[in-house]
Amino acid sequence: MTMSEDSNSAILDSVANITEGCRLPVRMGISSDWPLAEIISIQENDDGRTFYVHYIDYNKRLDEWVGEDRLDTRKIQYPRGDLGSTTTGLNTGINTPKKLFTNPNSRPSSPVLPGPMAEAITGQSVMAALQQKQQKNRKRKLESEAVCNSSTNCTPEDERRSSVSGDLNLVDGQQAVPRQTGSLATHTDDHAITRIKNIRMIEIGRYRIKPWYFAPYPQEMVNLECIYICEFCLKFRKSRKCLERHVQKCPFKHPPGNEIYRKGIISVFELDGRKNKLYAQNLCLLAKLFLDHKTLYYDTDPFLFYVMTEYDAKGYHIVGYFSKEKESSEDYNVACILTLPPYQRKGFGKLLIEFSYELSKFEGKTGSPEKPLSDLGLLSYRSYWKQAILDVLISLKPQEGQEKPMITINEICEQTSIKKDDVISTLTNMELINYYRGQYILSLGKDLIESHKKCMDIRKIRIDAKCLHWTPKDWAKRGKW
Ligand code: ACO
Ligand code: ZN
Repeated sequence: MTMSEDSNSAILDSVANITEGCRLPVRMGISSDWPLAEIISIQENDDGRTFYVHYIDYNKRLDEWVGEDRLDTRKIQYPRGDLGSTTTGLNTGINTPKKLFTNPNSRPSSPVLPGPMAEAITGQSVMAALQQKQQKNRKRKLESEAVCNSSTNCTPEDERRSSVSGDLNLVDGQQAVPRQTGSLATHTDDHAITRIKNIRMIEIGRYRIKPWYFAPYPQEMVNLECIYICEFCLKFRKSRKCLERHVQKCPFKHPPGNEIYRKGIISVFELDGRKNKLYAQNLCLLAKLFLDHKTLYYDTDPFLFYVMTEYDAKGYHIVGYFSKEKESSEDYNVACILTLPPYQRKGFGKLLIEFSYELSKFEGKTGSPEKPLSDLGLLSYRSYWKQAILDVLISLKPQEGQEKPMITINEICEQTSIKKDDVISTLTNMELINYYRGQYILSLGKDLIESHKKCMDIRKIRIDAKCLHWTPKDWAKRGKW
């Protein structure tokens, strides 16, 4: 995009008037397009002002800090409302206009915090804000403490202490964050502090990964160039040197818990969120960096975690995981699911999903993922459901004396362990259901069958039920998790 000098100076003039909550076209980092974005936060520094922006029609993982040169102020929309009043109970130290936009479809966003960011978006303030919100909905008291296993100075003595105790240190004292519902994580928090990414980079195993979203790592981890995570025990450190020191002493080469599945180089470890609390909490913290619609809670007791790994001579490298409530009143068989970004789009997401349904088959139940699903979660589940259901339908043979094969929805559910609602929504989405002469008919066209076969040929890695060594526990009978 080229601009005349006149328009350039007009833009620069109006940059000074930009406040948090304004909306204007912003040049996107990844595409150089100019979509409408909202200013979430403004930071003053020596080089001028930088702006944290959210692109209105895009996922929050694309939110970013931009300089003035990327703002087109000619089309700026100011937030409507009383200037000078804040929109939350939190004292942000600045006067933020109420975010009421003229467009009825636009969602008012949260107010913002002043810089410096390191102070504003983590540590005490985050925990306090989360707690305030969550306490309102407290259902049960939590025994577990928050996790922090980083050490500020990371002396050999610190290393020794943490490896000897192998236990939890605390972040922000003994704050316990209550669970809101039966789920590990239900997103209700829309506060500015949790809207801004706070970790710039993580290094885990041989990968450097840019986080997508906020995660409540402790204060001293925030705004470092990178944080360093042990790929086997998931403890985090401030520098590579600290991590190297840790790795020399870390006894793990695989996740804790029991290896309940192994085929080729793929294994799955089952661990109990109560027995392996530190690992489970660090896993949730890591996952939060890539999960937006979920809020992190520290009560991992009611969950089991299934960690998928890939083996090589150095050990069992984490690829992804899902968590599952020990008891779910809503038939959820997955709470949170994640493939780490370097492994994404290689079929591991569907492999994890397939594994979750294999567990449900062993339990003799149908199950469904916890709602809401993320955009990528929905894509992956839709694709899995479609393939699993088509597999069943295509392999059907007509019964004796029948011209066409017959199956009921319940039979599809039994064979796949996919919950009825999901089976119906999948068949509906695929536009397969027709009503003809008083009965429902599923008609599968040749093209659909062909394309399904091609997809299944591409899907090389599959779960092999023979390699799963697992007996479900009846948690309701145990009385205690
Ligand atoms: N863009 C377009 N399509 C995608 C993308 C993408 N970025 N990522 C995955 N897909 C599609 C794939 O094309 C594939 O469909 P297809 O086989 O029909 O082509 C399907 O989704 C699954 O792909 P996989 O390679 O098997 O899945 P992946 O390993 O990438 O993992 C997952 C999917 C787990 C959702 C991953 O994207 C992730 O971890 N995202 C961040 C966390 C998240 O959103 N988790 C789900 C939250 S919902 C819940 O927890 C219940
Ligand atoms: Zn370790």
